[in-house]
Amino acid sequence: MKFFVDTADTSEISELNALGLLDGVTTNPSLILKSGRDIMEVTKEICGIVDGPVSAEVAATEYEQMMREADVLSKIADNICIKVPLTFDGLKACKAITGDGRMVNVTLCFSANQALLAAKAGATFISPFIGRIDDTGDDGMELIAEIRTVYDNYDFATELLAASIRTVNHVKQSALIGADVATVPPAILKQLVKHPLTDKGLDAFLADWAKTGQKIA
Ligand code: E4P
Repeated sequence: MKFFVDTADTSEISELNALGLLDGVTTNPSLILKSGRDIMEVTKEICGIVDGPVSAEVAATEYEQMMREADVLSKIADNICIKVPLTFDGLKACKAITGDGRMVNVTLCFSANQALLAAKAGATFISPFIGRIDDTGDDGMELIAEIRTVYDNYDFATELLAASIRTVNHVKQSALIGADVATVPPAILKQLVKHPLTDKGLDAFLADWAKTGQKIA
């Protein structure tokens, strides 16, 4: 499973990229707001940090304006992936943009039927939102499993990108189901390395090593 980081914070992106953990980045209007930076400037900087796809979301809701915005965003860098909402205009834009050979991430997906439409529109990535479904009392992981089944039934090339991830368990369940990508907030990505028995075991090894009085280098 590929890891994208879900942020527009360039210091977090640089730190995780240096660890070799990143396959891409996703942003959205809320994350751009949180960064406090100009979308063009911050997105260009992100594209220079990571080699993989960097999702930049259009702000328009109508097809013609989506296409104009997509053209502007596409000029930022070769690794830009245009993010469009899961609406009829978004799907039309998806078809046109991918038809030009550009990447599209269809976002705000909350049903398997929506994911089916996005795949038929040629989406590069579909982004089902796990955490926001959990917030309603339903199980977001069920949607990931349903989309996996639908895409496998018809050999769709669209990559299943698990989004709105809130916990390390969301990451594990996405991997078990077979999501192609998980876009993960930096704090959750860092939590993945943590296990109390790792810390406890390391402390014990270090204590015993000190007692040997040896040095390796
Ligand atoms: C990613 O592409 C999505 O925009 C993001 O994962 C949404 O996450 P949230 O529900 O935590 O805002």
